[in-house]
Amino acid sequence: MSEILLHDKPAAPEPEKRDDVILSARDVTVRFGRTTVLENLSLDVYRGEILGFIGPSGAGKSVLLRTVLGLNSKQSGTIELFGVDIDNVTDQQRVSLDMRLGVLFQQGALFSALTVKENIQVPMREYLDLPKKLMDELAMLKLELVGLKPDAADKFPSQLSGGMIKRAALARALALDPDIVFLDEPTSGLDPIGAADFDELVAKLRDTMGLTVYMVTHDLDSLFSVCDRIAILGGKKVMVDGTVKELMDYDEPWVQSYFRGKRARQIDMSARG
Ligand SMILES: Nc1ncnc2c1ncn2[C@@H]1O[C@H](COP(=O)(O)OP(=O)(O)OP(=O)(O)O)[C@@H](O)[C@H]1O
Ligand SMILES: [Mg+2]
Repeated sequence: MSEILLHDKPAAPEPEKRDDVILSARDVTVRFGRTTVLENLSLDVYRGEILGFIGPSGAGKSVLLRTVLGLNSKQSGTIELFGVDIDNVTDQQRVSLDMRLGVLFQQGALFSALTVKENIQVPMREYLDLPKKLMDELAMLKLELVGLKPDAADKFPSQLSGGMIKRAALARALALDPDIVFLDEPTSGLDPIGAADFDELVAKLRDTMGLTVYMVTHDLDSLFSVCDRIAILGGKKVMVDGTVKELMDYDEPWVQSYFRGKRARQIDMSARG
């Protein structure tokens, strides 16, 4: 009987897409004085993906990031994180949301007066009440996770290379085991090998921890090598999104010169085999 019922059951419904959406922005408009930076922008970010977010300098990529994080106010539109409208949360809900987000800002990746270990522990101190010994152990685990040696723990940012700073900042972003990390130009200033190593690390974290990654970048190598999907900011909104291959054929001057300009030619050819 139960077998028959099973057979007769209508095909399982498609899993609800909403479950997979970690971030959903709808018709978001952000102005500073009379300048409108974002207008009716919509974007979804799905669980487990590495989204590359690109667009011309000054287009508003960092502004969108800050708006999503609740650091900039918006004039209209809605932003949901994990299905929760960020404008309709209690303080307690805001704290739990914040704990599920990790951020690596474009500027000021680390506090210069704190050691690497202390930097990594900043979010722990802010959100958790843990004994020092446990915080030390956790910080060392995070260091290992991002491929830094234990002796980096007691160094100050000024004693680190650019690549080490980015890794330490990533370790801090991962301090609370977030569901999603927002990385604003994480590989800028790194040489191509350092940048490729960082990309590899991000991909590894996604694969092993199921992390969702929102990466603002200008780095074509990152886009080609680790991003599952790319969203392009243009005309104050997400002009288009898709895979690199899809976007390379997108007929828009900025997109074409970005993917097919001189700087892109070599990668373009290798991507096409
Ligand atoms: N707090 C603010 N007050 C006024 N204007 C701002 C503020 N923050 C950003 N802007 C303006 O918003 C626009 C978008 O800036 P944003 O930093 O988001 O650009 P971006 O796309 O991240 O550029 P880049 O690729 O160079 O990092 C710029 O014109 C910037 O001057
Ligand atoms: Mg920026």
